[in-house]
Amino acid sequence: MSGNSGESTGGAGGGDGGGGVSGDRRSGRDGSGLGRPAASGAKLHIVRFAPAKLNLTLAVVGNRNDGYHALHSIFVRLSLGDALTVSTASIGASRDSLRVTGLTIPTVGDNLVLKAIAAARSAVVAAGTGLPELAPLLSARLSKRIPVAAGLGGGSSDAAAAIGAALAMWRVNLDAAALAGLAASLGSDVPFFLAPSVALITGRGEFVEPLPDIAGEPPAVLLVTPQLPLATAAVFKAYAQGSHQADEELALTVSERLAVEMRSGISSASLLAQAADLAAANDLRRAAFALAPGLRGFVTALEKVVERPVCQSGSGPTLWALYKTLAEARKAARFVRLAVVDGKLPLIGVGEPFIAATTIAGRLNPPVPQAMDELAGAIGPRAVHN
Ligand code: C5P
Repeated sequence: MSGNSGESTGGAGGGDGGGGVSGDRRSGRDGSGLGRPAASGAKLHIVRFAPAKLNLTLAVVGNRNDGYHALHSIFVRLSLGDALTVSTASIGASRDSLRVTGLTIPTVGDNLVLKAIAAARSAVVAAGTGLPELAPLLSARLSKRIPVAAGLGGGSSDAAAAIGAALAMWRVNLDAAALAGLAASLGSDVPFFLAPSVALITGRGEFVEPLPDIAGEPPAVLLVTPQLPLATAAVFKAYAQGSHQADEELALTVSERLAVEMRSGISSASLLAQAADLAAANDLRRAAFALAPGLRGFVTALEKVVERPVCQSGSGPTLWALYKTLAEARKAARFVRLAVVDGKLPLIGVGEPFIAATTIAGRLNPPVPQAMDELAGAIGPRAVHN
């Protein structure tokens, strides 16, 4: 996630001229043959916005028999997000393909977009939708703006967007249960991205209770992601090995209280007033500190710079703080950038942190994707959203 990579890591194959990576090998298949939308020769493109998520709270409530942890967590979508464009594969393509631009991602081959398309293909065949077994091959382009392995759910959101785009390309639907099963099979955070906006997440992530939007002007968010990607599995493992919060009940207490408030409607002002509680309401915080030397000191320094409590999203290392307006969050982003330059914020990881100002998105203020061209020169550790 170290800046604007241009055409990103790739691999062999792909249907549209190199740089792509295959997901589904079907030699000799003509990808456009079954692609009903492309039959006229004009290629149909479907563009999906894939928003980042923030965990306002994250309580680990127990161990499950399947090795996962049971959670109680309030998720919100952000206006910051990736853009996924899906079209039918070119004639002669033998597999689904993916190209990535924007922020660097570790390996395209592992990307959930290709896995999601393959899993969606299997699911629609299994559901007897009438789609031929060799469902049309797809070519995907992902413009990556959400830092990777950062606790912002970028990969999961891309996967949910890929499911939606693939079904739309194939002009088929899945019922809610099949869709939920498909999403959960791809990752614990994926089901959330099928929900409208704000939700209480329980189980390992498969139970999604939609909640009302936050009332009033949507709160703005300052995001600061140190460049030390953390794998979710490693953070949960550190938690399982004993890296717990000093007060083991606090995150759940705050999370349950907030869920009650949010069910009956919470205002932006009321959420902002709870910043200190939210900062303490992430049970994976100590586990992230245990894995990322320097993160604890970075949080302390960041709290001094922004003069407010700093929270962690998911398994980290993304840190966030709430603001009343986007203008205030942007101003804070500028302060943080200056603090990096003058050394008030220690550099941890492999370079300068990703810093962005964005807003919480809701049903009434859905995220508005920005033209990627607009950001072409701005994507990078110092990008400010909007
Ligand atoms: O589901 P996902 O692939 O995103 O999870 C990555 C890893 O994080 C899992 O293999 C598991 O170790 C851990 N995890 C967990 N409990 C959850 C979600 C994830 O232990 N609720």
